Amino acid sequence: MCGISAIASHKPVAKLLLKSLQNLEYRGYDSCGMALFDDQEIKLRKNIGNVNEVNSIERFEEMTGHLGIAHTRWATHGGVTPENSHPHFSSDNNFVIVHNGIFSNYQVIKASLQAKGHQFRSQTDTEVFANLLQEEYSICQDVETAFCNALNKLEGSYAIAMLSVFQPDTIFAVKKDSPLVLGINDGVNFVSSDMNAFISETRDTVLINDYEYVTMTNDAFQVKSLSDNLTISKQIIHVQWDRETAQRGGFSHYMLKEIFDQPQTVRQTLHISAQEIETIAKKFIDKPQSFCVGVGTTYYVAMIGTYLFSKYADLYVPSISADEFPTLIPVNADQHVLFFSQSGETYDTRMAIRAATQAGAATSAVVNVVGSSISQEVDDCIFQGSGPEICVVSTKAALSQIVILWQIALRVGVLRNHLTEEQAESHRKRLFDFSGLVEKMINEESGFIRDLAKNTSHVRNWLFMGRGIFYPIALESALKMKEVTYVHAEGLPAGFLKHGTLAMVDENMYSLFFLPSRGDSELFHATLMAIEEVKARNGKVIAFCTQDDTEVQRLLDHYFVIPETEPEMTPLVEMVIAQLFSYYSALNLGLNIDKPRNLAKSVTVG
Ligand code: AGP
Ligand code: GLU
Repeated sequence: MCGISAIASHKPVAKLLLKSLQNLEYRGYDSCGMALFDDQEIKLRKNIGNVNEVNSIERFEEMTGHLGIAHTRWATHGGVTPENSHPHFSSDNNFVIVHNGIFSNYQVIKASLQAKGHQFRSQTDTEVFANLLQEEYSICQDVETAFCNALNKLEGSYAIAMLSVFQPDTIFAVKKDSPLVLGINDGVNFVSSDMNAFISETRDTVLINDYEYVTMTNDAFQVKSLSDNLTISKQIIHVQWDRETAQRGGFSHYMLKEIFDQPQTVRQTLHISAQEIETIAKKFIDKPQSFCVGVGTTYYVAMIGTYLFSKYADLYVPSISADEFPTLIPVNADQHVLFFSQSGETYDTRMAIRAATQAGAATSAVVNVVGSSISQEVDDCIFQGSGPEICVVSTKAALSQIVILWQIALRVGVLRNHLTEEQAESHRKRLFDFSGLVEKMINEESGFIRDLAKNTSHVRNWLFMGRGIFYPIALESALKMKEVTYVHAEGLPAGFLKHGTLAMVDENMYSLFFLPSRGDSELFHATLMAIEEVKARNGKVIAFCTQDDTEVQRLLDHYFVIPETEPEMTPLVEMVIAQLFSYYSALNLGLNIDKPRNLAKSVTVG
């Protein structure tokens, strides 16, 4: 996730553009830059650091020009270096672009452009688009046609703003799977990742949809369809938000915003290149033994991995909490350890990496923060590109890690001949469908989840239970509940209940069951048995079930409705509902949701 911004004005834009960057900085802050059309050419300044640090060196406000683009980066491809910062020029400096997203087929395009003599100055996926524009323009000699033709060759996710010396009064912009909005004012128009960029200048906005592109000057804008180039008529919306609210995308807390970011961050992970997935998948083949390791939420992500590898790859991959790893695992060079970390700085995880590295084991990681210590300490790293996670409790970063892990497990399944390519592809397709489902579900169900949280706000003790993959989902959901509400929630396997914990159950004990879909028949019935055990002791039971499952509903005191979906996706659906349940429970209690007491976002001490 990065922030992009572009302004066309009848007046100099440098100061406004700098302000827009400062307002977008929460979207990414490892480097930034600006490019302005000035005196017949494009001038570009960029560097690493946050906006104010870079500005103190590059002096953005001193740039001149009435048209410009800007970017604040959260790297996904290529390290945090001045060369990888955006904007990116084409080889001939006639086109300049900023990009938020991932071009998943960039390697193929890069190779073909290099064969035609194009020079690349960065390791980013983004730069291919700049050179592709140059290439397409050399064929058609028309900027708009070149823009559309180049886009047709690219796959992945993108919000892009572009300017060219060949049409210097116009900003071109486009989106697919990454956000983009316009800001409309008198004599000055804006394109940006979100309204923060321009909310102090104008509240008149136009929302852009996927596969729509924009041509914008200082006094006009047009939105067209990428498929047929026809003009689309757009409504200007007047928003009432202040800047504070806009920064959270209109949400009352970052936690809620980040839960709602998930359809996009999940899609982003599905654009990670097949090659990156393959590199890590191969390690599970090359080494006789692999482990998944994380701590806190990322340990539960790792545990989910254990279930995924069993199911899709017929391979047992133990998961271990990073804090226990050095004392528990006799590591050796025949092993491979896959680590998970949002921040990339967690002490316990770094110590586990150190133990693995010292023993000569192969290491890999899935990390959100580019340039972080963990990303540099492992042999191979996938950056998840979920954008900054501001709330201390992890939601979107964890879900995205699970979806990446899912893709790795599917690939290992193919490499081990447990799945065919076709089977793996159809499982992968379900993950795409899942991102759409989450979008629909969080919009439609939030009100109901909020009401249920209100009805249970007196509860001080919870048991969260599931079987199979629903067990780590229950553990993660219980952790979420504890972190934001300070209410006790114990995650446990539903099958374990009768071996002890059942003694706690009476009419005051509340249990939340992560019930699988009926399609997951064995697991469904086994979990239902545990529900019956609790009901027989007068315990209160809440569970997840579909709208029409009255048979289950009769057993329950309350229930969360889950949409009809592939049984495979049900654990993830329930995880998202449980995130919202924790959020609304904490909201009822009036707690500091984004910064729970005693916790820190990144735990860098032992
Ligand atoms: C998540 O909600 C927690 N705040 C915490 O458990 C966290 O997941 C853990 O500290 C690991 O952090 P990392 O992903 O940054 O390594
Ligand atoms: N893929 C681009 C880069 O790494 C943009 C990153 C993003 O938007 O997340 O520079």
